[in-house]
Amino acid sequence: MSNKFTIMDGKELNLDQIEGRFAAFERLPYAVTLRLSKPLAKDGYGVITVDGTQIPKGREFLMDMIVKSHCLMVPVGSVAHDYDKEYTMHLTGFTAEDGTPFADTTLKFKTKKRQLPDLAHKEHDEVAVQAAREGMVLLKNENATLPLAPGSALHCFGSAQYIFRNTATGAGLINPRWQANFHQAVTEHSTLYVNQKVSSLYRGLEDVVPSDELLAEVEASKNTAVVFISRCSGEFLDNRPVKGGYYLTDDERAMITKVSAAYAKTVAVINTGYPVEMGWVDELGIDAVIYTGFAGMGAGYALVEILDGRTNPSGKLPDTWTYDYYDHPSAHNFINLPAEHKAVGEKEFGVHIFYEEDIYVGYRYFDSFNKPYAYSFGHGLSYTTFDLACGDVVFANDTLSANVTVTNTGAVAGKEVVQLYVQAPEGSLEKPYRVLAAFEKTKELAPGESQTLSLTADASLFTSYDEADSRFVLEAGDYHVWIGDSLAHANDVASFTVDGLRIIESVHRINPPMVDFPRLTKAHPEVSEDSKIVDLADRIGTPAPRKSYTPEPLPAYKGARITYPQVKANPSLLDAFIAQMSDAELCTLNVCGGADWYLPWGTGAAGKTVPFGKYKLPRMMVSDGNTGLNLKKSNIGFPSSCTVAATFNKDLAYQVGRVIAEESKEHGIGLNLGPAMNIHRNILNGRHPEYFSEDPVLSGLMAGHHGKGLRDFGCGSTYKHLFCNGSDTSRKASHSIVSERALRELYFKTFAVAMQISQPSAVMTSYNAVNGIYPAENVDILQTLLRDEWGFTGYIMTDWGTYDTVDPVEMVKAGNGWLTEGGSKYVKELKKAVKEGRLSRAVLEHNVRYLVKTLAELDV
Ligand code: BGC
Repeated sequence: MSNKFTIMDGKELNLDQIEGRFAAFERLPYAVTLRLSKPLAKDGYGVITVDGTQIPKGREFLMDMIVKSHCLMVPVGSVAHDYDKEYTMHLTGFTAEDGTPFADTTLKFKTKKRQLPDLAHKEHDEVAVQAAREGMVLLKNENATLPLAPGSALHCFGSAQYIFRNTATGAGLINPRWQANFHQAVTEHSTLYVNQKVSSLYRGLEDVVPSDELLAEVEASKNTAVVFISRCSGEFLDNRPVKGGYYLTDDERAMITKVSAAYAKTVAVINTGYPVEMGWVDELGIDAVIYTGFAGMGAGYALVEILDGRTNPSGKLPDTWTYDYYDHPSAHNFINLPAEHKAVGEKEFGVHIFYEEDIYVGYRYFDSFNKPYAYSFGHGLSYTTFDLACGDVVFANDTLSANVTVTNTGAVAGKEVVQLYVQAPEGSLEKPYRVLAAFEKTKELAPGESQTLSLTADASLFTSYDEADSRFVLEAGDYHVWIGDSLAHANDVASFTVDGLRIIESVHRINPPMVDFPRLTKAHPEVSEDSKIVDLADRIGTPAPRKSYTPEPLPAYKGARITYPQVKANPSLLDAFIAQMSDAELCTLNVCGGADWYLPWGTGAAGKTVPFGKYKLPRMMVSDGNTGLNLKKSNIGFPSSCTVAATFNKDLAYQVGRVIAEESKEHGIGLNLGPAMNIHRNILNGRHPEYFSEDPVLSGLMAGHHGKGLRDFGCGSTYKHLFCNGSDTSRKASHSIVSERALRELYFKTFAVAMQISQPSAVMTSYNAVNGIYPAENVDILQTLLRDEWGFTGYIMTDWGTYDTVDPVEMVKAGNGWLTEGGSKYVKELKKAVKEGRLSRAVLEHNVRYLVKTLAELDV
């Protein structure tokens, strides 16, 4: 019998969702996945046509490693454009690894009907569109190129106009109930119109250079061109400093060069999840630039409203944008892959990443060392102008406050963000030049209208961490307060003096590095190149010692059975409820009940608690989706968190949480696995769009308000991933080596700030190791920092499948109360450990107690 192809999951193709969880491995628009009866030979790829048109070679992708069967993802996006239509795919000339041929095969696949908005969710959808409007950032706008006059023609260049991305991939994926891509939005939602002659050049998804004839025919010199750049980004997919990644491809550059020279005006639309190179913007004379980010279901509508001026942009950059990748101080120390690197399954730390830039992440570096950048942190233009008048600035009782009156001095309505930065004096600790301490956004101000904003910042937001004495301090001296509409445009408006050293908080020493390594300082302002790092990596080897955690056992309980509803009604019964359980039951509850995404009829939920009929303990479903529910049934689709951060609108972040909570209820989800808030240490981290910002205060405040929205409306929140989940490559084997000061001022700080706004229901530990030990098994992190210092009383879970690399018993022993995604194998391992005296019942009791307490606090 000859070899066969079959369509993997007879499902219809959803043209509104470009890349799914697995397609994240490659940049595949609209892929159909085929199962192969045998592995394909390396050079065994034949010809695939869809409705007679050949699919360009080189874009297909073999998925063997992920699903343990032989799969081929066929990017049919260059042909399948129509909704609700059957297409015919023909495959010929394929050969298996063993030299045998695949039979010529004809397969049919269908595209889904276009999903349309439903009235029942109108209010939720409006919040999503508003987040998109406020999250897009106008980076450049020479000579008021934008907005375009109503009725203008858009001459659109680049395949990206058809691969318009509105979501991150992987855990941050959204599955919106409707969406509007760019072309749909122009037609349905604006008076602008697209020149079809130009756009049709790009339907084949190649970035072709337009001919002189075409440019003459469409009268380029009298019109405005819009060029599109798009990049995929998300979990599993770190980006790369290569053409087609951070850099423009040769085709894109050639196309933009020709277009910008020919057209009267050129607008660039950057539809990426992370900053990309910017040198070409000035070099090629681009007049206006809009950064859309991944703006969710309303992305298309928001973009056309910004183009035609119905929306006045108010987004601000949550990260510094540079001309070149290597302008970033972490560029050389991002993912130093060993040659034989494997993506999964390594048992040892395999990839050592030294955080040499230390506390100088993002703008802290560019600002302190006077380094060039393209667009500063907090930058974002408007179609109007604002005047900022600073009133009293007061520092009293360890709180800084300032009143700023914002007046719209231009001709159109708009919103402005006021940013307050603190410059601390140099002392025995060196300081970043300025740090963000507070920000507020105005309402929409009509021309001439004013609003006075009150900005306040607790001193903890601008302290320095003194490693020698494990404490947060304000050193003596003059503190300057800078206020402005961006870091670059902030003015030194006031100062206050701290007379002697002020100790704001003394803390424990947590997770120090085990090795000295070069750290960027003002005296040594250069980071080393990879080669030096590798020498140091040789010295790492020994893991940090594991500590033990020995909680008091709960008093034994011998009375009548207590049920969960009784605990909900009377929380004082919690201890006895737990104490009545057998060791085996406690082991079972310490393990997640498995994901619901494998079977075609599964909901797509990432996990669930194990129910116990005998205790009337219900099942709680948990779902991913920082900015929507990552379920198979479609639902709300907000912008990715990086774009939510760009709104600088705390209330909007709260509304994002509120709407996700309300929709979680509709779908029977008790706890959301978000928000994710790791610091943007390096812009090429695939999860950049899922995380908020390079700044811990912006990240922490926006994530905290998002988390508060979830909790206030009855859904559990999960702050993740603790800590330093700074890259996805080899993520289970990667080892971050970072100073205590950088941990305290940046990587821990985000979580600490978010927790002050709203305590989460759960926290998720990260896959990677930090300073010689995995956070998932680190007692200092889970107990001393989380519980004792930050007062966290929810439950702690591992990231999915952390037990591939970290001993499950050690994680539970440290207080990690939920091994995910679970399975009976892990329950057995825990039971064995209890029997052998390696795991105490008291630890299990405490872990499960936190879990049940959390369930009882939620609507479960
Ligand atoms: C991701 C988490 C996610 C989990 C469950 C992991 O691969 O790192 O962020 O919550 O999967 O889907």
